[in-house]
Amino acid sequence: MKELLRQMTTEEKLGQLVMISPFFFTHHEQKQLTGPLVELGLTEDELYFVGSILGIGSPEEMIKVQEKYLKRSRLKIPLIFMADIIHGYQTIFPIPLALASSFNEELVETAAKIAAKEAASSGIGVSFSPMADLSRDPRWGRVMESFGEDPYLNYLFSAATTRGYQGKNIKEKGKIASCVKHFAAYGLAEAGKDYNTVDLSVYNLKQNFLSGYKGAIDAGAKMVMNSFNIFQGVPAVMNRYLLQNILRAELGFNGIIISDYNAVKETVAHGVSADFRAAAINSFTAGTDIEMASATYFKVLKELFDQNKLPLKLLDEAVLRVLNLKQELGLFENPYKDASTEDHNKIVMSDKHLAEALKVAHQSLVLLKNENHVLPLQQNAKIALFGPNSAEANLNGAWSWHGYRAVNKTLKESLEETNSLALIEDADYIVYFGGEKNSESGEAKSKTNLDFPEAQLKELVALRKYNKPIILLIAAGRPLILTEVEKLVDSIIYTWFLGTKSAAAIRETIFGLNNPSAKLPMSFPRNCGQIPIYYNHLPTGRPADGIDDSYRSAYLDSPNTPLYPFGYGLSYSQFKLKNITLDSAVIKPEQAINLSVEVCNCSERAGYEVVLIYLRDLVAQVSRPILEFKKFKKVFVNGKSSVNVNFQINQEDLVYYNSHGKLVLDEGEFELHVAQASNKIIKSFTINFLK
Ligand code: GLC
Repeated sequence: MKELLRQMTTEEKLGQLVMISPFFFTHHEQKQLTGPLVELGLTEDELYFVGSILGIGSPEEMIKVQEKYLKRSRLKIPLIFMADIIHGYQTIFPIPLALASSFNEELVETAAKIAAKEAASSGIGVSFSPMADLSRDPRWGRVMESFGEDPYLNYLFSAATTRGYQGKNIKEKGKIASCVKHFAAYGLAEAGKDYNTVDLSVYNLKQNFLSGYKGAIDAGAKMVMNSFNIFQGVPAVMNRYLLQNILRAELGFNGIIISDYNAVKETVAHGVSADFRAAAINSFTAGTDIEMASATYFKVLKELFDQNKLPLKLLDEAVLRVLNLKQELGLFENPYKDASTEDHNKIVMSDKHLAEALKVAHQSLVLLKNENHVLPLQQNAKIALFGPNSAEANLNGAWSWHGYRAVNKTLKESLEETNSLALIEDADYIVYFGGEKNSESGEAKSKTNLDFPEAQLKELVALRKYNKPIILLIAAGRPLILTEVEKLVDSIIYTWFLGTKSAAAIRETIFGLNNPSAKLPMSFPRNCGQIPIYYNHLPTGRPADGIDDSYRSAYLDSPNTPLYPFGYGLSYSQFKLKNITLDSAVIKPEQAINLSVEVCNCSERAGYEVVLIYLRDLVAQVSRPILEFKKFKKVFVNGKSSVNVNFQINQEDLVYYNSHGKLVLDEGEFELHVAQASNKIIKSFTINFLK
């Protein structure tokens, strides 16, 4: 690629750092182009310098745009097509927050693999995913896109997603590059208001908020997208410390850094760039390689390089990263990569993909309540169905616009097929499917009121008069406040948004063909006043936990605990953890201790159980969380059987960042907890680390 770089003019180099919509190549009439082109600041000729395209709708569109572009490209450098494939392309999987609930890395990786195959057949080369923004605030609409509040789960599922997209070689058919986002700590937007101020210490950034990005980078993510927010007062897109010291130097990332949509120009609105010229200089020199959806680099930087006011080396390095990714994807040999109408029609929404989507959905919905074991219902049970989501076909969740919705069934249709519906007078059970609409979560969908919808609550109160068991299904892109509604019903299944196979997954769970196994990746608050509420909080100097003294870190009007904690989720089976043993209480350098747990299924029904391992560092250089989730195993156990699971704990599990952001490991005492949820600790040990 260096030889190609040598042939390129400054304009051609800068063009490689611009990403625009395919609209500019698919709309031929000049008049249609005028407005957006003026906004972009490019002439029609200059369009043929750009390097990448944001989004594409079909293999035909990709082929048409690439062909048209290459005809006018002097050096025949192919475009690279990137898109938001967040939880599936046309076969839509559960939203990432639901995927995290599965506590199953393999399923998450499989979902990404399938998404990559389908997207690649459209000619897409890069997915702007995983979204690895650790989030503790359900007021923020983008929690649906995240893997929740825990650093360890964020690491694992971001890594699994990147592996699923990229495989061993992104040139292979059905593989695409992963672009992890949004670097960094976008999920900490103050008050859960999207795009809002973010402020955290370097210590907290490294201890908690970098974990998801690190997972994707360790798994080989080819790109990183930086975030809209500031870090230490400076917008991430132009934050040299964040991009050079943390991302490049500490996390060892040497791929392409791309801005978020229009974020370069938005540094003017942040009040840190005086104008778009400064915005271009600030962002480019801080290390953002590609400018998404605006072209200030192209318009502004040329003269600075030509006048040697900026080192050409910086430009060459950025352009080389772009050319190398295009080469890695094989675009110079085949500019169309996997784009093929024939393949596309065979691959997308195949029975195999839909079957996988159902399997993933089965393991992503969470059983929150099941009083008196009302669920599962007998096959011949009659249901009176109510609620706004019962006739909703689009339960794909946000970030699924490529999703092919024509095949989605509603729960009502699905239950009609199995002849399960009846009028309330003849029904054995009431099923109410409520919660949020698809459009209430995602980007720019923050909320101040997370209460279960008032109108739905009133309907449920009215339905109680029929004195039949009520099963409440809740579709949502975030934790809602269920404190009131929880008292009114016998069973609750939190479905999240489960994607294409939502209806089947829910129906099969209600009738016991699926035994729920998911656990919550985010705490469910009792009320909005508790937010942010998360399990791995620090003890404070006045921990409340049950001490009867009013000078404690507590509220006058609410318990400190969430309604449902991180790691909580019920099953139709009854599991007990027994014979929990540790082979030593002392960890030495380069040595591990072994923990063994027997998972007993005391019921007849086979199912999955998740064993959670937490640690607590009792004394350290900084205050450490009351619990830190460190390991888990999800095991399938047949009825009336047991399975043994083993864990190894070593010094790697004990390290933490001190207040200078340095990774440290102290000698001393730790508590080791074996649990079934963050509030259901079965056995604890005190262990020591001795150097
Ligand atoms: C959006 C989102 C980002 C997405 C990008 C391109 O504003 O913040 O997640 O990848 O624009 O669509």
